[in-house]
Amino acid sequence: MLRDEALKGKTIVVTGGGSGLGKAMTKYFLELGANVAITSRNFEKLQNTAKELEEESGGKCLPVQCDVREYHQVEAMRDAVIAHFGKVDVLLNNAAGNFISPTERLSHRAFDVIIDIVLKGTKNCILAFGKHWIDSKQTNTNVLNIVTTYSWTGSGYVVPSAAAKAGVLAMTRSLAVEWAKYGMRFNAIAPGPFPTKGAWDRLMPGNLQEKFDMAKKVPLQRVGDHQELANLAAYLVSDFSAYINGEVVTIDGGEWLMGAGEFNMLSEIPESLWDELEKMIRAKKNK
Ligand code: HXC
Ligand code: NAP
Repeated sequence: MLRDEALKGKTIVVTGGGSGLGKAMTKYFLELGANVAITSRNFEKLQNTAKELEEESGGKCLPVQCDVREYHQVEAMRDAVIAHFGKVDVLLNNAAGNFISPTERLSHRAFDVIIDIVLKGTKNCILAFGKHWIDSKQTNTNVLNIVTTYSWTGSGYVVPSAAAKAGVLAMTRSLAVEWAKYGMRFNAIAPGPFPTKGAWDRLMPGNLQEKFDMAKKVPLQRVGDHQELANLAAYLVSDFSAYINGEVVTIDGGEWLMGAGEFNMLSEIPESLWDELEKMIRAKKNK
């Protein structure tokens, strides 16, 4: 969508960049000339992705292991990226955890694990990079946060994710005002359904895909294409969007306007099926 080399000279950190939407956005950033560091817990996955994307794009992609829940790991990741590329211009908070469950079945730890990855992890990255940009007086930087449409509608059956993403959206809007004076912009993207293995294993296990065809919930009658999201992300991190600050852009084919609360339809699942669904979701861990 953007012209060749539109991101040349920029260094972008993509959390959760080894898979799914993070990988798709990283690929396009590399094609547009950016240097990209991808981070997550699974270093082997990151190395494979970085190698594959470097070969495809001819760009430079650095894999760095980092659990965003741990502040000292986030600072170490930031320092490793700066040591390698010289600076960072853009932080893309894409890492997330999520699974469907009736809220009363969640232990307090199960609730925490989602809040910790999504809200605390995003906070850790924003603080580590934001403080660095302020201290080093680096300007023309920006943060892009991946949220969801249920950040503002809420949704049953993904309540920890909804609460955490709502917090991320509040941070986006708050810091867009407070830290603009340091030359930082903050924006967010709220994607509708974009099938990825990570999300679908945990949100649409077993035959739920046939039972609740996500495409049918979208006025445009289809799910999103990863490149469509990558196009929007590339624009929002680029200098072409220099006057966009504090915005959340929805890219969902009109889904949330047609039926708010993406997973509220799971009320249709009988109580007796949840044991089986939980087993299927847990079995996919680390696969
Ligand atoms: C109930 C569960 C559970 C389940 C885990 N737990 N899975 N409880 N139902 N299906 C409980 C565990 O028993 C434990 O509580 C606590 O949660 C922590 O579990 P761990 O397995 O120790 O956590 P961890 O290894 O850190 O793994 C985190 C994870 C996992 C979130 C549970 O799924 C993960 O790694 N996810 C990362 C990728 C991901 O989720 N991608 C999807 C993003 S999609 P106890 O009490 O037993 O100790 C997305 C889309 C939004 O966000 C919108 C879509 C349209
Ligand atoms: P995904 O492939 O599972 O991506 C999530 C990524 O987060 C993984 O690469 C995972 O890598 C990383 N991650 C998880 N916990 C982490 C931790 N503690 N520290 C660091 N990294 C961690 O799923 P996806 O669908 O591409 O999701 C990407 C983003 O889009 C998420 O923010 C999600 O909420 C959002 N989203 C997706 C959809 C959709 O339809 N797919 C819709 C709306 C919003 P490791 O396991 O290696 O750590």
